Amino acid sequence: MMKGGSAQRLQGKVAVITGGASGIGETTTRLFVRHGAKVIVADVQDDLGHSLCADINSQESVSFVHCDVTNESDIQNAVDIAIAKHGKLDIMFNNAGIPGKCDMRIIEADGEDFKKVFDVNVFGAFLGAKHAARVMIPAKKGTILFTSSISSVISGCLAAHAYTASKHAIVGLTKNLCVELGQYGIRVNCISPFAVATPMMLNNMASGWEKQKAEAVFSETANLKEAVLESEDVAEAALYLASDESKYVSGLNLVVDGGYCTTNPTFGEAMKKLSS
Ligand SMILES: NC(=O)c1ccc[n+]([C@@H]2O[C@H](COP(=O)([O-])OP(=O)(O)OC[C@H]3O[C@@H](n4cnc5c(N)ncnc54)[C@H](O)[C@@H]3O)[C@@H](O)[C@H]2O)c1
Repeated sequence: MMKGGSAQRLQGKVAVITGGASGIGETTTRLFVRHGAKVIVADVQDDLGHSLCADINSQESVSFVHCDVTNESDIQNAVDIAIAKHGKLDIMFNNAGIPGKCDMRIIEADGEDFKKVFDVNVFGAFLGAKHAARVMIPAKKGTILFTSSISSVISGCLAAHAYTASKHAIVGLTKNLCVELGQYGIRVNCISPFAVATPMMLNNMASGWEKQKAEAVFSETANLKEAVLESEDVAEAALYLASDESKYVSGLNLVVDGGYCTTNPTFGEAMKKLSS
């Protein structure tokens, strides 16, 4: 079994990554392939998915399948392709997600948008886990990962109610599945990142914001200074949870936030204001 320090920590493993064509999913796809995995990228952005495959394609390590995670037959197909092409599925990374509208006030929130956010972020993740479990249970091994968010831990970070509730739901799904699937040797974990300047985040911010400007704002509010959270850092967390190095880790919400959720600077700020 490979342990820490090994050059290829996912050698021989097969992964499906939803939302794998962009942002955190794309970076994770690249990292998993570098570590020896075969990856099926399952996404709705066909052009991006195909160009990612063309860019990476070392020994046909990565392939793209059009997959809308809200459509059960698409998810079923993505998992079946992994089995048909590579004979098994070791890692299911349910990462696809949308922010929904940024309605911060519940009386202005759009009910259809709420349903759409839940459809992609929660129902899509549920379907991914269901079809992964379908093939992992008989194999008596596998690891299921989800991307949640710091919105599952802390509130008031400009995330709308639908997004926040959906990311809490992912943590609940992670824990319940961890209990059900432990008997089959299947581990289930999720990752909760702080803000990362991915296309989703940049498209959601004030128009014209570029990566650098967004990262400057994130750094300003971050607890951990002298470092900027990048999609590579989230991908490294996924690599750990997907690899045998975490062989006894299950039911964890791995918060990748530089300690942000542990802080509450409001008292200190109020005191500073009083003394200035
Ligand atoms: N960027 C951040 O700051 C941040 C922070 C915390 C959590 N997250 C979560 O990380 C995950 C990845 O987001 P990202 O920031 O990389 O954004 P992104 O937009 O770059 O990537 C999301 C991917 O999901 C895909 N997707 C959306 N709807 C889909 C559907 N119905 N079926 C299949 N694929 C679909 C998109 O096409 C895209 O490729 C999301 O779950 C997001 O909520 C992001």
